[in-house]
Amino acid sequence: MTVSRLTIPTPTTAAISRQEIANLLAEARERTLLLVSSLSDEDLHCQHDPLMSPIIWDIGHIAHFEELWLTRNLDGPIEFSEMPGMYNPFEHPRATRASLALPGLSESVGQLNEIRARVLERLESVELDPANPLLRDGYVYHMVLQHEYQHNETILQTLQLKKGDPYRAPRARTFGPQRSSPKDMVAFPAGHVTIGTNDRRAAYDNERPLHDVEVKPFYMDRAPVTNGRYLEFMHDGGYQRPEFWSDPGRRWLAESGADSPKYWTREGDRWVNRVMDLTREVDPDRPVCHVCYHEAEAFARWDGKRLPTEIEWEAGASWDSATDSARAFPWGSRPDAKLANVDQLSFDTAPVGTFTENVSSAGYYGMIGDVWEWTSSDFVDYPGFQSFPYREYSEAFFGTEYKVLRGGSWATRPGAIRNTFRNWDYPIRRQIFSGFRCARDA
Ligand SMILES: [Fe+2]
Repeated sequence: MTVSRLTIPTPTTAAISRQEIANLLAEARERTLLLVSSLSDEDLHCQHDPLMSPIIWDIGHIAHFEELWLTRNLDGPIEFSEMPGMYNPFEHPRATRASLALPGLSESVGQLNEIRARVLERLESVELDPANPLLRDGYVYHMVLQHEYQHNETILQTLQLKKGDPYRAPRARTFGPQRSSPKDMVAFPAGHVTIGTNDRRAAYDNERPLHDVEVKPFYMDRAPVTNGRYLEFMHDGGYQRPEFWSDPGRRWLAESGADSPKYWTREGDRWVNRVMDLTREVDPDRPVCHVCYHEAEAFARWDGKRLPTEIEWEAGASWDSATDSARAFPWGSRPDAKLANVDQLSFDTAPVGTFTENVSSAGYYGMIGDVWEWTSSDFVDYPGFQSFPYREYSEAFFGTEYKVLRGGSWATRPGAIRNTFRNWDYPIRRQIFSGFRCARDA
């Protein structure tokens, strides 16, 4: 394995200084520009897929979100949650954004720089007032940083969907073969756990509050489902046998005509897949990626299992029975981007077993990084949820339409992932970097 020693500042450390905030803002911007700087204006303006924005829209939206929250809303009443106008996601659905009069890259970068200069000027005199939940411990800065990190992952989804020549990924991290993919399940005993967090520095409103849950005993796969196992499902007629699919799953199957994960193609008697500009034979030891919820659920049924609930997932990732408390990361309380396949620069999943320290106290491997993991849970509020600082981040999406995904992917920046982080999407989506692991009742 070759893993570069990444030293990434992370926004989840205690008491933050103005200088640390400025460093984090600079580092976030450096990454955004690294991802897009090699793209032509045509690539930046193209609607590569109806599901995604033109990348230049994401860039303008990053700038305007930062301007709104780090200048206008910083110490006055909150005017809007999203800036009215061209970059407002609610005014302009993704599929329509290519018809907007979007500027070129140099103009957009000028806008980013101009806004950033005002943000840094304001930062010099800002008081991180402990009585103000928006400013306490720099919450609003962490929120804006995570917004940029999350748009980086969205941009990577678009780049994977890119029309024309594949995106030339600036790969800075590679992995050697690893041949020890564990296929067993690990028991999680019945008992009390805590779920969620009371963190007010960086956690989103939907992760709060910390609350007690009694879990029934269950088994969960030690590792994410690999391509090798998924190929067994395919070879056993998994996509053709209706008994494994739910009603909505069968409808999706009929409409999509899918017979493999997205970005897989058959070449004679073998399957190849593509990640950006790298196409190779499907590696049986890497986690399966780009499957939708229905595919994950069908595989689980084929395997005599089910998907875990998000409570089971989080308990497996975080619960430390020795201290009777939850960890923020599988390996402990501190973020460490070296311990998991996160932060984008691998542009790939890693063979299961590559990151030997990416193991939770309960014994589950790879809960953070590589692929987002589908859970069987709908995206709903925790008991005692309070919307903060704006309704459209989480509350507007609560309900039965979305399924929760956990754990982040290779394309997730480390500042936007932790055991309590909840992502959500429609069960038919697979342009996201999504895989899964299975569970069953004990
Ligand atoms: Fe956004």
